[in-house]
Amino acid sequence: MSRSNPTTPPPMDHSSVIGEILSDQPIKRRRPDPTAIVIFGATGDLTGRKLAPALFNMMLDRALTEPTLIIGVSRSEMTPAAFATKLEGPVRQHSRQKVELAAWDKFASMLDYVGGEFADDATYIALKARLEAAKVKGTRGNRVFYLSTPPSQFPIILEKLNKHQLIDRTQQRGTDASCRVIVEKPFGHDLASARALNEMIGTYLTESQIYRIDHYLGKETVQNILVLRFGNSIFEPLWNRNHIDYVEITAAESIGIEGRGAFYEATGVVRDIIQNHLLQVMSLVTMEVPSSFAADDIRDEKSQLLRSVRNLTLNEVANDCVRGQYKGYRDEPGVAPGSQTATYAAMRLMIDSWRWQGVPFYLRAGKKMAERLTEVSIHFKSVPLVLFKEEAAGSELQPAVLTLRIQPHEGISLRFVAKVPGENISVGNVLMTMSYADAFKRPISEAYERLLLDCMRGDATLFNRRDSVDRAWELIQPVLQVWEATPGVLPYEPGTSGPTAAADLMKRDGRSWRELVAPPPEG
Ligand code: BG6
Repeated sequence: MSRSNPTTPPPMDHSSVIGEILSDQPIKRRRPDPTAIVIFGATGDLTGRKLAPALFNMMLDRALTEPTLIIGVSRSEMTPAAFATKLEGPVRQHSRQKVELAAWDKFASMLDYVGGEFADDATYIALKARLEAAKVKGTRGNRVFYLSTPPSQFPIILEKLNKHQLIDRTQQRGTDASCRVIVEKPFGHDLASARALNEMIGTYLTESQIYRIDHYLGKETVQNILVLRFGNSIFEPLWNRNHIDYVEITAAESIGIEGRGAFYEATGVVRDIIQNHLLQVMSLVTMEVPSSFAADDIRDEKSQLLRSVRNLTLNEVANDCVRGQYKGYRDEPGVAPGSQTATYAAMRLMIDSWRWQGVPFYLRAGKKMAERLTEVSIHFKSVPLVLFKEEAAGSELQPAVLTLRIQPHEGISLRFVAKVPGENISVGNVLMTMSYADAFKRPISEAYERLLLDCMRGDATLFNRRDSVDRAWELIQPVLQVWEATPGVLPYEPGTSGPTAAADLMKRDGRSWRELVAPPPEG
């Protein structure tokens, strides 16, 4: 424990907690069946940065059942060997484990490739032949289609997959081969398009075959929110309006848009991060206790919670939401010179429920911020009466804050008040931290590894159901409406904590955002 400056908690670089693994024989998770994974958009950024490294690490960890085959589909024509060569660099760069030559050769032997237009029947005829070949090798006809393309391509791909009988509305756990489709975010562009997309997908697949991915839900620390809340009896009694003053949820990135100008212009931070990642995190922090850990029990509670979030009025968008754009954004390739796209957003949301009535939730997300930091901070109420006012004078006695650090340096910290050793009663704030890496000494796997495995197993717990996707769009719709109709994005310096209006939003309520604190160097 360390005495700390209350507004600048030190990074979670060490742990005073020794992790004791209580269930090393955890609920035994079913191994995935041998499967053919077909990636549409296989030469895109996501495949190189996330999907291929995830699959490579799953192979190294022996999480995949043989044979598992990966078939890339994209417009460019190339051989499977050229596809493997194309992926090798990105996998070496992004893999969390070292890429040894023999392991790479094994992974390359799992790769196949089909080049062709998504609207062209020939593409699907070729794909069908590859899937037949995979079945002969032992995948038993099990298949996962990963739609890692712009959403505008989803309808034609599904239509053609259906036409060529590559997808069907079979059940998941029967004797039939499994057929599942993973749909990347953004799931739609607004409420109307998300509904239309759901309708369209629903004509080809049953809800149990649709895996709407939000990679935040695959992060260990996000999953731990439920374990912390429902695996300990000490938090839940305090987890309500009687004890919690307000909650902050931050997703700050130090990177910019990384060359994705055209994508980002059409997306912006609200669609990119808040509609999905932050509202999902918020629903896990605030949902009621599910009756079990089964997919639909958890998804029911999340959905119920999102329904209780108060709809923003257009006035509230003007007063309680702040939009910013980092200076230099308009010079990025693919960005319009007078772009009004927000790269930063902050907003205050309220939840109308017995548990949360009156507790504000402050959400903020931004690119090119001072630090990369994602965390949830639960600010507890002040004590009703300070008994040691004089002793605490000048030492900024502050209410307790529980911080769930999602990334980087994953962990949990609790800031509370303690007596400074000495003859007098002098009071200070201290910080108790638990670092995941130190506590369990286990590598933390990437979100995409967990989610791909879950999909192959037919476990949809960590994927978004149709109702919660719709509701999340409904919630941010007024923000999109106002911001798209009226210019007014506020410029901010890269490397800062965003526009000053965001600080004012908190100040008005007599509060301030937590500082974005640099994590310690790796290693
Ligand atoms: C993606 C967004 O969903 O999440 C990106 O499209 C963003 O813009 C990324 O950079 C952040 O993910 P993570 O896991 O690095 O926090």
